[in-house]
Amino acid sequence: MTDPQTVLTERVQQALAHAFGSEYADADPLIRPSQFADFQANVAMSLAKRLRRAPREVAEAIAAELSDFPGTVEVSGPGFLNIALDDSWIESEAAAMLDDPRAGVGFATPPQTVVVDYSAPNAAKEMHVGHLRTTIVGDSLARMHEHLGNTVIRQNHLGDWGTPFGMLIEHLLDIGEEAAVAQLEAGMGTEYYQAARSQFDGGEEFKVRSRKRVTMLQSGDPETLRLWHVFMDATIRYFNKVYGMLGVTLTDADIAGESMYNPMLEKTCDDLEAAGVAVLSEGALCVFPPGFTGSDDKPLPLIVRKSDGGYGYASTDMAAIRYRVDDLKSDRMLYVVGADQALHFRMVFAAAKLAGWLPETVSAEHVQIGMMLGKDGRRFKTRSGESIKLMDLLQEAVDRAAAAIADRGYDETTRAEIAQAVGMGAVKYADLSVSHDSEYVFDYDRMLGFNGNTGPYMQYATARIRSIFRRAGVAPADTTGRIVLGHPAERALALHLLGFGALVEQVAALSEPHRLCAFLFETASLFSTFYEECPVAKDGVDAETKAHRLALCALTLRVLETGLDLLGVPVPERM
Ligand code: ARG
Repeated sequence: MTDPQTVLTERVQQALAHAFGSEYADADPLIRPSQFADFQANVAMSLAKRLRRAPREVAEAIAAELSDFPGTVEVSGPGFLNIALDDSWIESEAAAMLDDPRAGVGFATPPQTVVVDYSAPNAAKEMHVGHLRTTIVGDSLARMHEHLGNTVIRQNHLGDWGTPFGMLIEHLLDIGEEAAVAQLEAGMGTEYYQAARSQFDGGEEFKVRSRKRVTMLQSGDPETLRLWHVFMDATIRYFNKVYGMLGVTLTDADIAGESMYNPMLEKTCDDLEAAGVAVLSEGALCVFPPGFTGSDDKPLPLIVRKSDGGYGYASTDMAAIRYRVDDLKSDRMLYVVGADQALHFRMVFAAAKLAGWLPETVSAEHVQIGMMLGKDGRRFKTRSGESIKLMDLLQEAVDRAAAAIADRGYDETTRAEIAQAVGMGAVKYADLSVSHDSEYVFDYDRMLGFNGNTGPYMQYATARIRSIFRRAGVAPADTTGRIVLGHPAERALALHLLGFGALVEQVAALSEPHRLCAFLFETASLFSTFYEECPVAKDGVDAETKAHRLALCALTLRVLETGLDLLGVPVPERM
C-alpha cells in the first residue's frame, strides 16, 4: 500500500487502539494535507470529549505511540498532529511504484462484475449532445473498472423500439430503402423523424398504415422486421462513426437495446402481478413503490403495462434489471443517464427491490449526468433553436484544434493526427473534469485552451515529458536511476504521485472521474514547478542527478499516461 494518506490512517488507528483501547481502532483519524507539514491529523480534537481529556493531552498520547513512525509527528496548537514523512520513506515507496507497470493501481479484490449502461441514444432521433456526456463519462468508468480487474459488461440500451417505428418504417418504404439508408448513415435521423412525423400528422392514409405497421412489428412479421433492421443498421452505422470519432470502446456487441427485452416483457408483467407487486389501476398495470408520491400526495405509479396493453420505458427497465442481475450476474450496475431521469430510476430500483429482483448484494446506481448548457446558460441549442448535430460539433473541435497548431510546422498528416487527438481530448476532458451531475457549459474556447484544467494542457504536459526523454536519448521504460529527493519540488511531486493508486480506486468506487482529472492536473502543475526549478538534462547537471530526475520524470509520465488512458483521453506523441 503506497498511498501515504491510507498508510497514515492505518498507523494512527493502531496508535489510537494502543493508547485508548481497541474500541477506538476504527475512529476516523481525520488526516488531511497540511500547509505546515505533509499531513495533519485532527482526531485528538474530535476524541477529546469522548475520552474526557484535553485535546492536547490526547494528541500527545497518540504521538507517543507513533515513535517508530517513518517521519516526524509533532503536536501543535490546541491538539493538531503535524505529520511529516521521511524522505527515505517516500523514496523507497516511489522506487516500488516505478517498478510497478501499473503505477500503484491495484486490483479489485474480489473482482466484481460491473454492468455499465451508457450512451444509449435513441434511434428515432438524432444522437444529440446529451448523449455525448453519458457516452464519455460511461466509457471512462468502464475503462477504470476494467483496469481494476473487474469484469465489465457494457450495455448500450438503445432506444430502438416503440410506436414511432410504425411511421419510421412506412416513411422508409415511401422514400425507398436506399435513400433512407443514406440519410440515416449521414446522421440525419432528426430530419428523417421530422419528415415521417409530418406525413403522419398530415394524412389519414399514412396514419392508418403506420399503426398497422406497429402491430406487424410487434407480432414479428418477417418483412417488417427486415425493414426495421435496415433502419436500425443504418442508424447504428452512424452511431459507430460518432464512437469512432470519439475513440470510445463501445462495439456492436455491447448493443442491448430496448428491443432485446421484447420477449421478456409479458413475463415481467405477469410475474410482478402474480407476486402482488404490481396491481391494475385504471386499466394499467402499475407498481406503487412506497415513499413515492405526486404533487397531490397520491402514490406515484410506475407503469409497467399501459392500459392499451402496450409496454413502455419502465417495462423495459424492469426486464433489464432482472436480466442484469440473473443472467449477467452483476454485482454492481451503473446507469450513466441524464439527471432528469432520477425519479424513473429511483422508482425502478425500488420496484425491483419489492419484487425481490434486486438483492442487497447487488448495487444499482444512477450515475446522474447533468445537462449540457450553451454559453448563454440555457439548454444547448443553436441560435435557430434546433439542436446541433453531434458529428458537426465534434468536427468543429478538431478544426479549431487544427487551426490552433497551424503555425507549428507539422506536415499535413501529423497535423491532422494531432488535431484529432487534441480536439477530441478537449471535448472529452471538459466533460469529465466537472462533476458528472452538475450542469456543464459547452464552450470551445475554454475546453481548447492550453492553460488550466483542460485536455490540451494535460496532453501538452505529457508530450513535454516524452520530449525530455527524446532529448536525453533514453526511453522512459529504460530509466535506471533511483528517485532521490534533493529539492522540495521533487519531494512535493513524488509525495503526490504516491497517492495515484488509491485515488483511482476511489474514483471507481464513487463513479467520479472529475477527481481523477483534478489529481492529474495537480500532477502536471507540480511537474511544471519541478521542471522549472530542477533542470533534468541541461548542461552542468551531473550524471547522477540527471538519472534521479529522469526517474522522477518517468514515474510522472506513467501516472499521466495511465490516468489519461483511464479517462479515454488520447495523447499525441508531440504537439
Ligand atoms: N435511451 C434513453 C434516453 O435517451 C437512455 C437509456 C438509459 N438506460 C436505461 N436503462 N434506461 O433517454
